[in-house]
Amino acid sequence: MEMENITEILNDALEYGRKYISKGNVATYIPELAKVDKDSLGISLVTIAGGRYHVGDWDKEFTIQSISKTISLIFALEHFGPEFVFSKVGMEPSGDPFNSIAKLETKSKYPSNPFINAGAIAIAGLIADRYKFEDYLKLVHRLCGRNSIDIDENVYMSENETGMLNRSMAYLMKNNGIIEGDVEKTLELYFKMCSIKINTNDLANYASILANGGVEIESQIQLIDKSTIKILKSLMVTCGMYDGSGEFAIRVGMPAKSGVGGGIVASSENKVGIGVFGPSLDSQGNSIGGYHILEYLSNELGLHYF
Ligand code: DON
Repeated sequence: MEMENITEILNDALEYGRKYISKGNVATYIPELAKVDKDSLGISLVTIAGGRYHVGDWDKEFTIQSISKTISLIFALEHFGPEFVFSKVGMEPSGDPFNSIAKLETKSKYPSNPFINAGAIAIAGLIADRYKFEDYLKLVHRLCGRNSIDIDENVYMSENETGMLNRSMAYLMKNNGIIEGDVEKTLELYFKMCSIKINTNDLANYASILANGGVEIESQIQLIDKSTIKILKSLMVTCGMYDGSGEFAIRVGMPAKSGVGGGIVASSENKVGIGVFGPSLDSQGNSIGGYHILEYLSNELGLHYF
């Protein structure tokens, strides 16, 4: 891949993505998220050769939200093994919105996958029974390459006060034996995980490890097991962009995960890790500017997996 004019390409991608901001809206169902600047847009890109590039609002912090679901899946897979994890959640795209409660009553009672809210709450239940939030945060520090990362207290309190749909799903799963321990402890961990404040460089650093088979670029240390990477990236392809995952696979073609804070993490095998941020969201809850930036970069840099 030709990397000489990469900053120029990133700037072009930023301007392309900017055109879509007005077509979306910031998340308002978490009151604290409604306060963010809709026009923010930033990109970071880390190559597996170690090159780092940033444009726009790359150093603005935002909450990680659902991107945390990928890190909690890594945590759970590496501490409990896939058999136990997938005895609590499925491996299939749900085809429903990320916060849907419907299938918990009608289908198998198990959440379809670890990236919808219900699935991530089930995984949080596994972790909350045995570990502390600080243990999880340490993994975030390691994968993002920054030890100063912490939660946004206001977003945490806002979600905890208003997250009644998440609370309902958690109690339903407790009733069905999917959550075994304390429901409120599970929810506290889940809301804290979602409220972690990061920037696009943190995401690009994490994505570069995914692109590099779980190996940290600078140290060459295997941070994530290869078998975990295989499960994680497969689920990112099929479920990472919620009920928009199929179209994203065609248009962009990278394992990716979005969050309603406006972040998207995406990696291209053996090439690059990318973090984008733009809080204006499309109807499925994915950053609208970020989505188009990734589509632009996929075309310009040849990042599609096929
Ligand atoms: O539980 C929630 O609804 C949020 N903390 C996370 C949702 C989210 O990021 C969905 N992403 N697109």
